[in-house]
Amino acid sequence: MVAVAILAAGRGTRMKSSLPKVLHPLGGRSLVERVLASCTSLKPSRQLAIIGYAGDRVRKALADVENLEFVEQTEQLGTGHAIQQLLPPLEGFTGDLLVLNGDVPLLRSSSLEKLLSIHQQHNNAATLLTAQLPNPKGYGRVFCDQNNLVKEIVEDRDCTAAQKHNHRINAGVYCFNWPKLSEILPNLTAENDQKEYYLTDVFSQLNPVMAVDVEDYQEIMGINDRRQLAAAYDILQMRVKDDWMAAGVTLIDPDSITIDDTVSLETDIIIEPQTHLRGNTHVATGSHIGPGSLIENSQIGPDTRILYSVISDSVVKANTRVGPYAHLRSHVETGEACRIGNFVELKNTQMGDKTNVAHLSYLGDATVGNQVNVGAGTITANYDGVKKHRTLLGDRVKTGSNSVLVAPLTLGSDVTIAAGSTVTEDVENDALVIARSRQVVKKGWRLSNE
Ligand code: UD1
Ligand code: CA
Repeated sequence: MVAVAILAAGRGTRMKSSLPKVLHPLGGRSLVERVLASCTSLKPSRQLAIIGYAGDRVRKALADVENLEFVEQTEQLGTGHAIQQLLPPLEGFTGDLLVLNGDVPLLRSSSLEKLLSIHQQHNNAATLLTAQLPNPKGYGRVFCDQNNLVKEIVEDRDCTAAQKHNHRINAGVYCFNWPKLSEILPNLTAENDQKEYYLTDVFSQLNPVMAVDVEDYQEIMGINDRRQLAAAYDILQMRVKDDWMAAGVTLIDPDSITIDDTVSLETDIIIEPQTHLRGNTHVATGSHIGPGSLIENSQIGPDTRILYSVISDSVVKANTRVGPYAHLRSHVETGEACRIGNFVELKNTQMGDKTNVAHLSYLGDATVGNQVNVGAGTITANYDGVKKHRTLLGDRVKTGSNSVLVAPLTLGSDVTIAAGSTVTEDVENDALVIARSRQVVKKGWRLSNE
């Protein structure tokens, strides 16, 4: 049995922010959400977040996380003091406790699984994750014997010049046998330079304590300021993009592309420069996206072509072409083999197959049939200043250039609208509608200059 505790009580002064550090977003999810996600594969029986600074905001932000308990640390007196707060809620718990920092968002689940399995295999009192860092400045140094049994952990500020040469650092990620830890936790003192209760002081009282090196040292990076937040984003992006390339996605100029790790892609997709895929987006095989597109929370079908466009909360079906310069604003669903062309904005609009909205249009709150041709400059007047209204276009409707469709409006199938019409009344199937003033020509007329 495993319980997970996440240290999230600190303010994160160096972020220079009113938002508590652990709530800062990194690639679409907050730091602490990422930490929580990294341990779901361990199927912990309990999850406890230790909160303090702006605790109410942290609570609110994590309100939807299932099976998460909040433990208050009203004063932040150190990492050891934070873990002492677990003594009441974990009373009688006999399993292992995994301790994670809320500001270490890049840990892979596989590293935590390895840590836990070594901990359990060796029946250790404690096992800690270590890393060999090129630049170990600021981290606690871990001293081990040849069997990786920990002899001592010395905080950077307390290291002698010789000890500073040790590049093996404490990642702040630990597995403890909880009954053993809980027995000695009350003994901690704050007799150090910072007058804090150091969690690392427990190791001298536990036996055996083992260190496990993480494979990729970048995983243990902690976020203390906005520069590190940006660096973590780069690392995350590199990982995500490497994985997609290995899985059969072509990225042209990957440095200029960003892909959230919540996005899923199929094989044989081409993504061109300056394209950003975010949130719960899925792109199906054979699609060619970009350059210059932003797609958020959208489902893109197979063999689509999307060029210089912005798509949010929408569905684009197979063989559809979007752009250049189209905006699918929200709740748009195209049919198959549609064409959404230049300078077209769609909102809350659903359409059938083989429908074209090719140039300079706005369709809002519309239901459009199959094989409809929406002429250049057609606009739905969907808002009367108070309420939004729907426009319904039947199959094979053709609207002439510069038509205004004043909602609520229903046009039957095979209706043709003459160019320049302002249509205000419903039309039955099979009709031609001309709703504009007739052209007047005065022969022989010329502007006089007098
Ligand atoms: C700690 C370790 C150090 C290790 C480093 C790795 C100790 C004494 N040192 O140092 O060996 O190399 O992490 O990143 O533990 N927090 C609370 N309540 C508190 C104090 C801290 O919740 O009272 C939280 C912070 O919000 C943070 C985490 O604990 O998420 C780590 O605290 P921090 O003060 O940053 O520890 P370090 O000095 O980095
Ligand atoms: Ca830290």
